[in-house]
Amino acid sequence: MRLLVTGGAGFIGSNFIRYILNARPEVAVINLDKLTYAGNLENLTGLEENPRYTFVHGDIGDRRLVSEIFSRGVDAVINFAAESHVDRSIMDATPFIETNIRGTQVLLDVTTEWWREHTAGGPPATPAGPMLERSSIRGAPTDPPAGVTASTTGDNFDTAPVSGGGNSTAGAAGGASPGQAGNGKSRFNGDSGSWEHGSTISTKDLPREDRGQPGTAPAVAFIQISTDEVYGSLGPEGRFTEESPLNPSSPYSASKAAADLLALAYHRTHGLPVAVTRCSNNYGPYQFPEKLIPLMITNALENRPLPVYGDGLNVRDWLHVEDHCRALELVLYRGRAGEIYNIGGHGERTNLAVVRTILHLLDKPAGLIRFVKDRPGHDRRYAIDPSKITRELGWQPRHTFERGLAATVEWYVKNRPWWERIKSGAYREYYERMYGGR
Ligand code: NAD
Ligand code: TYD
Repeated sequence: MRLLVTGGAGFIGSNFIRYILNARPEVAVINLDKLTYAGNLENLTGLEENPRYTFVHGDIGDRRLVSEIFSRGVDAVINFAAESHVDRSIMDATPFIETNIRGTQVLLDVTTEWWREHTAGGPPATPAGPMLERSSIRGAPTDPPAGVTASTTGDNFDTAPVSGGGNSTAGAAGGASPGQAGNGKSRFNGDSGSWEHGSTISTKDLPREDRGQPGTAPAVAFIQISTDEVYGSLGPEGRFTEESPLNPSSPYSASKAAADLLALAYHRTHGLPVAVTRCSNNYGPYQFPEKLIPLMITNALENRPLPVYGDGLNVRDWLHVEDHCRALELVLYRGRAGEIYNIGGHGERTNLAVVRTILHLLDKPAGLIRFVKDRPGHDRRYAIDPSKITRELGWQPRHTFERGLAATVEWYVKNRPWWERIKSGAYREYYERMYGGR
């Protein structure tokens, strides 16, 4: 199964790619990522040589590029790509509208086109259950783009050299062209919309149709990764169910709600087998240090103040990223089209409790906590009722928050160069803008 994962260089996407390649030998991943400030190929270190992994640098809103990827064969899409930080959406909503709404629309359009072409007689009348058995009819081979010799078209996207693993026909598809001394590597540059030739040695080109074993079919063609934030804020009682009304507070959550509605509309109107997942706040390795947990861990490690918004009593329902990935695997293989699945880790904590635990784990003083001006429109409490995914797909979170947080703190302690590199770059300017006068 060839999975198009968008936003796979970000926090959850990169964890998902590692997870699914490990869990499912029949899966091959194409990772389409724009590499915004939040996208980091270091999150995927070690996968460059994996024959079941391909990276494409580009924008989900680039219709030509997305169509090109589909023409090489895709069985299902998981859309993680997004502008994901509430505070940034308060500073400037434009990229949120652009990526989260318009980008999602482009992905949905292209997926729908493909779905129509590859389901005999159009979309099924009752779009439910395992639906993509026929998706083994993958994109018909395309002619090589102008200027690219047949021998190199197999190695199209921004790929690392791949080895001819599995039942790959890499040798046939991508054998070296004599004119290139066996070293031709071409890549599609999403920004310029053109094919480029590099001199990187790659004789083991990307086979077009058969990366990964043919295997279990996906149950849905498109998973829209959404958030509990679309439901807005809760009072002290109650939890969000899939029927809770949408009531987003921030430009970020409003853009995610819009994308959810688009995805569900494409299901109703075009029969595209879509599932929408709404998870609570994730935590774990490789999270960009602008979000609460990694920001607090890394600031504490640097003995810097820990900026807590308002009274610190806002509640978030923490979900370990690996539990999230397992839930997505279940939705991919067994989810029902047209459905929404809430995913939450039974991990409600106040921000202050989280911050104090981090300080305790790092043996740092509580005096590092600084209460700062509250976020405008700050949602007071989120809490997810995940009983639908538990009942229908048998999912349960495996990580308790205490153990998961301790392991996460340890990861940041051990991976200091990873976050120090991030924090030394453009991040500094962001931090000053966000927290400078607060
Ligand atoms: P992230 O900010 O860490 O990563 C986002 C990734 O998307 C980055 O790699 C970025 O380069 C890429 N991207 C951004 N715009 C793009 C575009 N136009 N085209 C292609 N790639 C683009 O985000 P995350 O925390 O991993 O979140 C992933 C998804 O999960 C998002 O859709 C987010 O809304 C959702 N979500 C996240 C959380 C959380 O706690 N992190 C909670 C609920 C929902
Ligand atoms: P965040 O990680 O930004 O996720 P979200 O806003 O999507 O839930 O924030 C989690 C909570 O932590 C939220 O209530 C805001 C709060 N927060 C702080 O108190 N200080 C900070 O510096 C940040 C980034 C967040």
